[in-house]
This record gives sequence, C-alpha cells and structure tokens, in this order.
Amino acid sequence: MAQRVRKAVFPVAGLGTRFLPATKATAKEMLTIVDRPLIQYAVEECLAAGIEEFVFVTGRNKGAIEDHFDHAYELEATLVQRGKKAELKQTEDATIKPGNAIFTRQQKPLGLGHAVWCARHWIGDEPFAVLLPDELMIGSPTCTAQLVATHEKTAGSVVAVVEVPREQTKSYGIAAIRAEKDGLAEITGLVEKPDPAEAPSTLALIGRYVLLPEVFDHLDKHEAGAGGEIQLTDALAKMIGGKPFHAMRYAGGRYDCGNRLGFLEANLAVALGRADTAGETRALLDRLLKG
Ligand code: UTP
Repeated sequence: MAQRVRKAVFPVAGLGTRFLPATKATAKEMLTIVDRPLIQYAVEECLAAGIEEFVFVTGRNKGAIEDHFDHAYELEATLVQRGKKAELKQTEDATIKPGNAIFTRQQKPLGLGHAVWCARHWIGDEPFAVLLPDELMIGSPTCTAQLVATHEKTAGSVVAVVEVPREQTKSYGIAAIRAEKDGLAEITGLVEKPDPAEAPSTLALIGRYVLLPEVFDHLDKHEAGAGGEIQLTDALAKMIGGKPFHAMRYAGGRYDCGNRLGFLEANLAVALGRADTAGETRALLDRLLKG
C-alpha cells in the first residue's frame, strides 16, 4: 500500500544565470507571474495535492522567499486600519501554516541532486514530492496532484514528462520507457542532458517528481554527472529495476520561467486565462500588435 505524500521539497538554491541581471540580487523564484511570485504557484500546486509540509532548499540572496510566506505584520496592520479586506486576504493567503515550512541552505550550488539531498533529514523515510518552481504548471488537477494520485496506485516513484523537440534533449533529463498505457509507462532508462543523436527518446523530465526515500541512498554518494553537477537524474537512474518507477505524461500548461521568453509567455498565458485580467490583457495585446 502506498504511503501518503505529505511533504514537498523546493530546490531553490540555483544561481539563475539564464535570467541575469534580474537574478543578480533577487531569487528567480520571486519573479512574478501577473501578481504572484513563482514560488507561490508551486506552494499552491502542492496544497491542491494535499501536501502541506514544505522544505525549501535555499541559498544566498533567497531570503525574500522566507519573508514572503511569513506574516507581513506592518503591512497587514495598515491594511486592517484602512479596511482593505481583499488586499489583506491576498497577503494572508500567501502565508504558510506555523511550523509547516523548513528553510535549509545548500551552501554551494553543487547541482539539483545535491540540493534535494540537503532536504534528507526533513523528509526521513517517506515518499515526497519535488517541484522546481521555475517550471510553472497550470492545470486542473495540478501536475503534482496527478503525480500523487499515480503514486497512490503504484506505490512507487513517478516523474512527469512531456515530449520535446529532439534538438532540445540537451537541456533535460530524458527517459526511456516501456509498456505505456493511458499516459503511464515504466521507466527503463534515464539520462541527463543527452546529445540529440544519443537521446534514448524525446520524453523530458519537467521538474515535477514524487520520489521514494531510497533516492537518498544514491544521492549520499555525491557522484558528479553532466556539467560537473550532482544530478538528480543520475540518482533516479540507479533506482530503475528496484521498486515501481513510472513516467507520467503531463498534458496541462507548462512554462519554463527560467528563461526570458518562457517567463513572458507564462505571464501572458496566465493573464489571458484569468477572468479578472483576460479582457484587459487582450485589449493591451491588440494595441501593442497594431503598433
Ligand atoms: P536550473 O538548471 O534551472 O539552474 O536548476 P539555475 O541555477 O536555477 O538556473 P540557470 O540554469 O543558471 O539559469 C533547476 C532547479 O534546481 C535548483 C534551481 O534552483 C532550480 O529550481 N538548483 C540547481 C539548486 O537548488 N541547486 C543547484 O545547485 C542547482
């Protein structure tokens, strides 16, 4: 029987070099999509999946993330005084329940696998979700909720994948699969950032995972892989052939907000998808396109 997924890890210690200079002194995860920072979307995605405990693996320049989920005492007192109820609710909704978030630092950016390993003591011996918040997923049920539902059926690890153009395999972890049924397939191989000519498929891992705690046994070894970094994909590859391990095709909206165009597209897509901003955004785009 599957154990319930109660905890999520947000590895947010990366340097964000694809988005400089914005990320020089600001966390990439605090960049806003319409009116909320990326990290808040990731937290809300988890809450919608029944996950309420969070481990943030942060680094220098990331203090604003911790502040964002705390009470903003002066701001809230002022909003109460001024009777601004809607604004007060918006700030309160961005607060995590007391005691439900841990912030730990990855002192050196040694790679995503190392960042996840930094969360090991807070996860312990239970399955957990990993979300890369610079990948924004818009869908209902959420991508993480779909992974959790799959884990409940398989009691194993499961990662979200999408098809990418072959020339892009160099930017992703790529999965080889077999016996696909209804968008779910067994994983037979995993390789980080393969050359297009060598990639075993064009199914890319997109930054959403539900993992069994065994992954820490492999991350413990601190083996560096592609780019000299300790790669999560390499540790996952070592889990193949053990407990159930599946790739789940994700069909909802997905925006890579770690680069400028993906971020712009996400802003437009979310603004066009929201009842309170769709009309004005359409009019704005019409105006701009007419020049
Ligand atoms: P990225 O590959 O997007 O790296 O990391 P990055 O440093 O954030 O951004 P670029 O590529 O330099 O522009 C994927 C995820 O892994 C985290 C990042 O914060 C991001 O969520 N990460 C990466 C860490 O937490 N620590 C690391 O050492 C590396």
